[in-house]
Amino acid sequence: MTAKQTETTARKRLFIRTYGCQMNVYDSERMRDLLVPLGYEPADAPEGADLVILNTCHIREKAAEKVYSELGRLKPLKAEKEAAGGQMTVTVAGCVAQAEGAEIQRRAPVVDLVVGPQTYHRLPELIARVHRERGEALETEFEVEEKFDALAAPKRHVEGFSAFVTVQEGCDKFCSFCVVPYTRGAEYSRPAAQITAEVRALAARGVREITLLGQNVNAYSGEAPAGEEAGGRWGLARLIRHLAMIGGIDRIRFTTSHPNDMDEDLIEAFASEEKLMPYLHLPVQAGSDRILKAMNRKHTVAEYVALIERLRVLRPDIALSGDFIVGFPGEQESDFADTMKLVETVGYASAFSFKYSRRPGTPGAAMAGQVDEAVKTERLARLQALLDTQQQAFNASMVGKSLPVLFERKGRNPGQLGGRSPYLQGVHCDGPASLIGQIAMVEIVSASKNALGGRLLSGESCAA
Ligand code: 5AD
Ligand code: SF4
Repeated sequence: MTAKQTETTARKRLFIRTYGCQMNVYDSERMRDLLVPLGYEPADAPEGADLVILNTCHIREKAAEKVYSELGRLKPLKAEKEAAGGQMTVTVAGCVAQAEGAEIQRRAPVVDLVVGPQTYHRLPELIARVHRERGEALETEFEVEEKFDALAAPKRHVEGFSAFVTVQEGCDKFCSFCVVPYTRGAEYSRPAAQITAEVRALAARGVREITLLGQNVNAYSGEAPAGEEAGGRWGLARLIRHLAMIGGIDRIRFTTSHPNDMDEDLIEAFASEEKLMPYLHLPVQAGSDRILKAMNRKHTVAEYVALIERLRVLRPDIALSGDFIVGFPGEQESDFADTMKLVETVGYASAFSFKYSRRPGTPGAAMAGQVDEAVKTERLARLQALLDTQQQAFNASMVGKSLPVLFERKGRNPGQLGGRSPYLQGVHCDGPASLIGQIAMVEIVSASKNALGGRLLSGESCAA
């Protein structure tokens, strides 16, 4: 990275609160990794912090409102800090920041800095500017560089065995309910060589499992490494095959995908690449063609079902997860019934479901036929009941099977270990602590809605 540290005095306290998706969790880690070398020390609470970052999510209205109420709570803390002769710099980062920058500062003057996801790498520079405006000494020099280059490698991942790696950002799909194409901007894929270097470094630190992240991850189209076809680009399947060759990496996942970007190469990778876990998050949002069209999803229910059938032929043990929105404008009871029918047809191992939330500036917000809140609540309850039943049934179907489990930590009881199945289910079983960081076969003996219990089949670790 190019941040050059000049004189820093006492350590400053940094508090980051993260809202929303996995991408934001990842972004928060990177912001922290960028700020620690500048003299910031992560803190558990905002009280007394020198720098507070709220890393926000704009997808659902509730999240944006939570940010405003958190800003309200920060106001007296900031005043206290100033009364004690210090300064608290309040930063709003993330998607809310991108979408409503000026509005935030108008509504919440406690905010010193608003920074959208495209400019995280400039954080040190921007924070320094705030300090300078207050007449404080400038503590950093920062050369702006290409976005991903300028970000430090995430360090927290050193401790874990599973790491997230952003490979793609932004979205060109413009689903009519969604703010991401406006807040995160156009699709951008990191060059394959950069990703490979990051994954190699993670593997060297003991990471066994990587999850490739992107708003539209299966639209990945990154510059091929030097020496490959000149000017060529790699799709996600090609990237996965390449990463699968890195020693130590035994499990690969990716999220989130759009059905229209599941190309033949990627579908086939589920059959041929055994390190690619048989678990796919493939949001469909709704089960009615009429609503899918209004959502601008650009595929039909039948096409989605055919895609899943094909995946199941090629990888019979594949399990699906999804996202659903109920109460999109114009959704009639019959459309909702179609969504329930689709869920029955597919059978999900787990899923996220949301009430439609009207996001200003998106086409959906201006559509006629907005659905009553009470109707949304009632439909969501029915959908979630069905999805819960499916999740329980899926977990129960594991009993009697042997699954490779990546052990991540000690369990709650002495002598117990906790890990993850290929389907991201939490698995507990008795075993030696030496297995932490290893993959071993476990016979599943019990299942609940959220976790599995098992018996270690052998002390030997094995590849996934
Ligand atoms: N209202 C409700 N849910 C939404 N999502 C995205 N935008 C909205 C919205 N306006 C959900 C979608 C998406 C997930 C990340 O969040 O299901 O897949
Ligand atoms: Fe939003 Fe649709 Fe893009 Fe997903 S594919 S980020 S839902 S616009």
